[in-house]
Amino acid sequence: MNEFLNAMPKAELHVHLEGTLEPELMFELAWRNGIALPFDSVEALTAAYQFGNLQDFLDLYYQGAAVLQTEQDFYDLTWAWLQRCHAQNVQHVEPFFDPQAHTHRGVDIGTVISGISQALYDAQKQLGISSQLIMSFLRHLDEEDAIATLNQAELWLECIAAVGLDSSEQGNPPEKFARVFELARQQGLRCVAHAGEEGPAAYVWQALDSLQVSRIDHGVRAIEDPALIQRLIEQRIPLTVCPLSNVRLQVYPHMSKHPILTLLEQGVCVTVNSDDPAYFGGYMSENFIALQRDLNLTTQQALQLAANSFEASFADPERKTQLQQQLQAFAQAHGVNLAA
Ligand code: HPA
Ligand code: ZN
Repeated sequence: MNEFLNAMPKAELHVHLEGTLEPELMFELAWRNGIALPFDSVEALTAAYQFGNLQDFLDLYYQGAAVLQTEQDFYDLTWAWLQRCHAQNVQHVEPFFDPQAHTHRGVDIGTVISGISQALYDAQKQLGISSQLIMSFLRHLDEEDAIATLNQAELWLECIAAVGLDSSEQGNPPEKFARVFELARQQGLRCVAHAGEEGPAAYVWQALDSLQVSRIDHGVRAIEDPALIQRLIEQRIPLTVCPLSNVRLQVYPHMSKHPILTLLEQGVCVTVNSDDPAYFGGYMSENFIALQRDLNLTTQQALQLAANSFEASFADPERKTQLQQQLQAFAQAHGVNLAA
């Protein structure tokens, strides 16, 4: 089954590039850029990866991201992650990046976007991985800062498919960003937002109504609100769920308590994603494998989750058809009927 899950074609729709920074690369970039890390070794760093909640994690995540300085650094980060995607047959990716985590340290937004985009371009050419890039705003900062960031990205908009909203959720409701999302839509960008991870189901409603998002990142707390679940099902609004992340950040005490398969069986378009794989113990395959181990994920459910990831993606229609056909062929080769 593990081999099946690893070889299954799939899309990653919820991953923060800064969260793919493996400890070894963090140390290498720190050395390259003459930056002192407050840890003596990879072991000392990873020993600190014990998170009581989202904020505990974010404090380390921003500290780690500070080693990223040059275009080459952003290229190396993105390329290392894409090779892992390739090894797990991830055929399409829609990563987030947090420009404000870099511009606030004096790194130009063009440095960030050009390094990332070059790696995504090379992955398309060399690995056959298609991509759409999502620029995410930090919700613990104010809306003016997000608007300034959107303006700074003006020359780079052709590299960006959508805007997102991440960082500390509680106390930073989606409606705080209604204007910047409106401006982004006017620029032709799609909208997604983290909501209902630590924050309440009300934040998912707000993301839909105030920000007009076409997808919710996490959204697991929607399960507390039957009317909201009904809306997600009727409007086929995807939730990009991150199982290992939710357990590592104590949203659920154990994977056996995770509601992803309940949501799937209710008819919600849920997908499996890795969020911050370098920090949470796994990439795409490890997330699927954890569901199999602790929730008895079936092959049929795994295929449905992969099909959902293609459906929920921002890939163009031809690419979507191609991806769904790849999955069909994979299912058939394993004697499973995907359409069931
Ligand atoms: N939630 C919110 N913000 C984030 C996350 C997350 O899981 N990862 C990186 N930024
Ligand atoms: Zn996330």
